[in-house]
Amino acid sequence: MPLEIVILAAGQGKRMRSSLPKILHPLAGRPLLSHVLDTARALAPRRIIVVHGNGAEQVRTAFADAQVEWALQAEQLGTGHAVQQALPSISPDADVLILYADVPLVRSDTLKRLLDAGRDGLAVMTAELADPTGYGRIVRQASGNVARIVEQRDASASELALREVNAGFMAMSARRLAGWLGKLTNRNAQREYYLTDVVSLAVGEGVPVRAVKVGDAWEVAGVNSKRELAALERQYQAKEADRLLGEAVTLADPARIDVRGELTCGADVAIDVNCVFEGKVTLADGVRIGPNCLLRNVRIGAGTQILAFSHLEDSEIGARCRLGPYARLRPGNSLDDEVHVGNFVELKASRIGKGSKANHLSYIGDSEVGAAVNVGAGTITCNYDGAAKHRTIIEDECFIGSDTTLVAPVRVARGSYIGAGSTINKDTPAGQLTLSRARQVSLPGWKPPTKKKG
Ligand code: UD1
Ligand code: CA
Repeated sequence: MPLEIVILAAGQGKRMRSSLPKILHPLAGRPLLSHVLDTARALAPRRIIVVHGNGAEQVRTAFADAQVEWALQAEQLGTGHAVQQALPSISPDADVLILYADVPLVRSDTLKRLLDAGRDGLAVMTAELADPTGYGRIVRQASGNVARIVEQRDASASELALREVNAGFMAMSARRLAGWLGKLTNRNAQREYYLTDVVSLAVGEGVPVRAVKVGDAWEVAGVNSKRELAALERQYQAKEADRLLGEAVTLADPARIDVRGELTCGADVAIDVNCVFEGKVTLADGVRIGPNCLLRNVRIGAGTQILAFSHLEDSEIGARCRLGPYARLRPGNSLDDEVHVGNFVELKASRIGKGSKANHLSYIGDSEVGAAVNVGAGTITCNYDGAAKHRTIIEDECFIGSDTTLVAPVRVARGSYIGAGSTINKDTPAGQLTLSRARQVSLPGWKPPTKKKG
């Protein structure tokens, strides 16, 4: 039977104490809901229905391209009520899997096991927790079969002592689900329609109920507070670090790396402490990243070294380059091989040719710099005239003296030398020294001003 997945995402998340809907809070740089969506998609369902309510518009906007169906739960009357809102969108012939948007670390393999277990009845995912506080408890019959799920707020003292908890995920046929949902009541401590009550309904009808127990408690961990979110973030990052170590990446400290996207590494890559990787980052063989760097959507060629405190985004960097410490690449740069970019140098939307160097205190924006160019300390491209941006072109083998101001649009022809401290606003001829500087004078007999007394 075709699979249809319902993701519950309407809850407010009161304990997050935030104006942002809970499921939009980021884990590893992207919203909780997006983690669950990815896991759901890995099961190739026919449709995904997201039940939303709190911050409905904000949620739909954030996931405008997600290709899901939306069911609105205007009032949050419980998890059972939430699934009821999705029911009209579910085909009667489907197998249904119910997921919670606030339980983001579940793996698709585990969900496959749950689906298999639910084929001829009802399957619920459970875990044995050292501290089950807050979760619904799995109550079993003397035979060991699951009898029902009792919520924390409704549980007796002996039920509270049970350590097997409900992860929240369930699998069953749409036909059975529809029947059970119709029978839910809100006679409980929270006056809510609990999805969990379908378990006792199934048991009452003699439908087999299977508990799929997971060994890894993180797979069932829900996010209800900032404390839990932080704990899940650390867990996610620990796994990511372990994956990198498994691929033989050298990590100075696996507890001090944050991957908020996709980090792909070649052989002999070394990453020092406190680096953050966002979006898609690719590091070729032998790349070394110094401490405290932020890399967002960058590709770095083999043997390149990024020194401490560099901030690089949306750029392509060649092989055997050296950037930093304190290099800043804003979006849109492409650096050829063997380029050096030193401290407090900012590049934006610029191409830098092979072997060129800008080692100290520069701004190079909207520029094309050829090969083997030396950009002296303090050189600035004035790319903005207050209304529009213009390009600066520096051809191969130029030498730009320190503290040069290049007023774009301007072209510095091949092999030009620019004297230090020049303001260049006209194209320069190839191979010549160009400078624009007031002549230095010293005034003999000059005396410093004196203060008048009295
Ligand atoms: C629920 C389960 C509990 C389980 C726990 C696992 C019920 C009654 N309880 O409790 O057994 O151990 O999850 O994390 O199901 N939601 C809606 N609409 C609502 C209420 C909730 O969409 O009206 C969504 C929330 O956004 C969330 C999920 O359902 O994604 C779970 O809701 P939450 O209020 O966090 O349930 P718990 O009390 O944690
Ligand atoms: Ca929860």
